[in-house]
Amino acid sequence: MWDEWAEWYREPGVRNWSSAEPLWGIWGIPEAAAGVLPADLAGRDCVELGCGTGYISAWLARRGARPVGLDNSAAQLATAREMQDRFGLRFPLVHASAEQAPFADATFDLAISEYGASIWCDPYAWIPEAARLLRPGGELIFLVNSVLLILTSPDEDEAPATDQLLRPFFGMHRFEWPGDDSVEFHIGHGDMIRLMRRHGLQVEDLLELRPEAGATTRWPLATIEWARQWPCEEVWKARRVGL
Ligand SMILES: C[S@@+](CC[C@H](N)C(=O)[O-])C[C@H]1O[C@@H](n2cnc3c(N)ncnc32)[C@H](O)[C@@H]1O
Repeated sequence: MWDEWAEWYREPGVRNWSSAEPLWGIWGIPEAAAGVLPADLAGRDCVELGCGTGYISAWLARRGARPVGLDNSAAQLATAREMQDRFGLRFPLVHASAEQAPFADATFDLAISEYGASIWCDPYAWIPEAARLLRPGGELIFLVNSVLLILTSPDEDEAPATDQLLRPFFGMHRFEWPGDDSVEFHIGHGDMIRLMRRHGLQVEDLLELRPEAGATTRWPLATIEWARQWPCEEVWKARRVGL
């Protein structure tokens, strides 16, 4: 599916590679307002799980980190390579699934994902894998659609979230939205906390992102009026501790 969609992600890829300041999620919320990244990234080994066009890894590299981008779409990685040439910034790109990442245990200080493994991989597979990859004290940071957005979004493609609970909270996990062949994963907060704790990840924060009034988006998952009232995106932050 992602090989088919890759072309549509080139333009946002260029925009994000071009931006000196990280811009998060569908509304492009600036890092200064969102506070997603750790303050000191210099010398840190990082892996971006589901890197797509690789712009987060580029932001990390510009802050002195040593990123590796992993993605299971050859077409997305081809765009990432093209961006590396265009912007003259290189880091390793690995073609693999984040559910079975080809790295040794305790290789990284930071694992990060924005709408990558965080929604396209089964959390019961990728969260343990991310925990395995992290050194003790290492951080896991990932951005996802909020639980509230998932519960209030109609089945119709491109239809924005409503103010009604349209599906059950209990049992939420695997989502096959009508209109394409992709599969997404979204679980509730309690399940996510228990899953992370089982794998030695201590939750440190859950940021509920709020765009500025007047912000626009290429992905109309919610109107700006909706997103100003309720969080449509969430950022989880957890730290690897001993089991
Ligand atoms: C929306 S992009 C994320 C990149 C970027 N942050 C963005 O928002 O455009 C989703 C990426 O997840 C990747 N992906 C999907 N399933 C994956 C898996 N099992 N392992 C690694 N990457 C995966 C897709 O190929 C795609 O490049």
